[in-house]
Amino acid sequence: MRKDSLYEELTEKITEILSRNLTPNCRLKAICKLLRNSVSHYDWVGFYFVEKQKPCELVLGPFEGEPTEHVRIPFGKGICGQAASRKKTLVVQDVSKELNYLSCSPKVKSEIVTPIFIKDRIVGELDVDSHAASAFTKGDEAFLEKIAKLVSGLLASDTSA
Ligand code: SME
Repeated sequence: MRKDSLYEELTEKITEILSRNLTPNCRLKAICKLLRNSVSHYDWVGFYFVEKQKPCELVLGPFEGEPTEHVRIPFGKGICGQAASRKKTLVVQDVSKELNYLSCSPKVKSEIVTPIFIKDRIVGELDVDSHAASAFTKGDEAFLEKIAKLVSGLLASDTSA
């Protein structure tokens, strides 16, 4: 299947998952699982949320893949923290060349982090790691930004998130 048709199909499935009568975290976990199982170069997929009590820190939410020690990440630290402070999607095609990087596993070669906004406020991120170098294209960027927008709707309507 062509990648753009796969991404269209996954976007529809994600819209359906978001409409399910489950807790927000269960819906986000199902999205992580779907993405990791369906896209061969997505080896770790997870959400980080901006900590409400400490608005300059990210806290790990639902994820699929190997457990990570990076459960709390200050803004500015690592690729996740940089995406949060710069409020934009960051793609690192070769993590070994990135000095401000928090390694989760030596297997990871590239990473993409997409912020999730409610209006102009960053409330979280979608983080994807790949075991392949230079794994992410403009197509991945557009796809993950679309998912981030869909998830923003869920977070905006959920008072506990
Ligand atoms: N590599 C990230 C840390 C999170 S893990 O990829 C799950 C970073 O540099 O911020």
